[in-house]
Amino acid sequence: MAVILDGKAVSAKVKEEVRAEVAALNEKGVSVGLAVIIVGNNPASRTYVNNKKKACEAAGIVSEEYALPEETTQEELLALVEELNRKDSINGILCQLPLPKHLDEEAVIAAISEKKDVDAFHAVNVGHIMIGDYAFLPCTPAGIMEILRHYNIEVAGKECVVIGRSNIVGKPMAMLLLHQNGTVTICHSKTKNLKEVTSRADILVAAVGIPHFVTADMVKDGAVVIDVGMDRDENGKLCGDVDFAAVEPKASYITPVPGGVGPMTIATLLKNTVTAAKLQNGLDK
Ligand code: GUN
Repeated sequence: MAVILDGKAVSAKVKEEVRAEVAALNEKGVSVGLAVIIVGNNPASRTYVNNKKKACEAAGIVSEEYALPEETTQEELLALVEELNRKDSINGILCQLPLPKHLDEEAVIAAISEKKDVDAFHAVNVGHIMIGDYAFLPCTPAGIMEILRHYNIEVAGKECVVIGRSNIVGKPMAMLLLHQNGTVTICHSKTKNLKEVTSRADILVAAVGIPHFVTADMVKDGAVVIDVGMDRDENGKLCGDVDFAAVEPKASYITPVPGGVGPMTIATLLKNTVTAAKLQNGLDK
């Protein structure tokens, strides 16, 4: 029987810390503002954006939503980003991904001021994360590290295996585990003998986006299993990348979906937005 890692509870604790910090900044006359851009009608994106806005409100962060139609042009989107880069009341800018196919995500990420890049997607911030000296935390990986810290799960010297190499999760996750002295392997669609590699993991992070991809035979007895997936099963029900029912009895700790990694991502976003406001107001991060 594994301990269920309660991301919802840990995230509530972080959100409360952020709320207190925002209140203290407000006392000093500093407000904290986040702009959230959403383009088109992706229902998952709409849910994520609504959750982010709700979390901002609860923390005392002023959020402004910019909902643009599907047919928005690259020029229009870049013009909005430029306007928000210049807007003093906006400390953080988040453009919800994925964007509609005709838009160039990389160009949009590059256009966001690195000082307002609360997703930590900009190449400058990615570079800071790689070096290990960074103000903005990569949201999902940092949320996972916060869960590990909260449950006193040691990373140093552990075999850490990350399945997935996306810029949003897999790559920055590997870096944060490395910074904590884990021995890190990144697996992907071309990895040979995947099961052999994942079976070595003391800490296994699944970020593939395929429902129930990680089965019990891929997991070592006593492993810590972190599930980043937000997938839909054959009945349309929300599920993770891990076959939870089969893997849970083998694991020592495991995150559920929902209620594991997801809530932590938003908590990190709020932290980054406060950091942005502090830095833009000449305060220490
Ligand atoms: N789409 C999926 N995850 C994320 C995220 O963390 N930030 C943004 N902006 N879009 C996403």
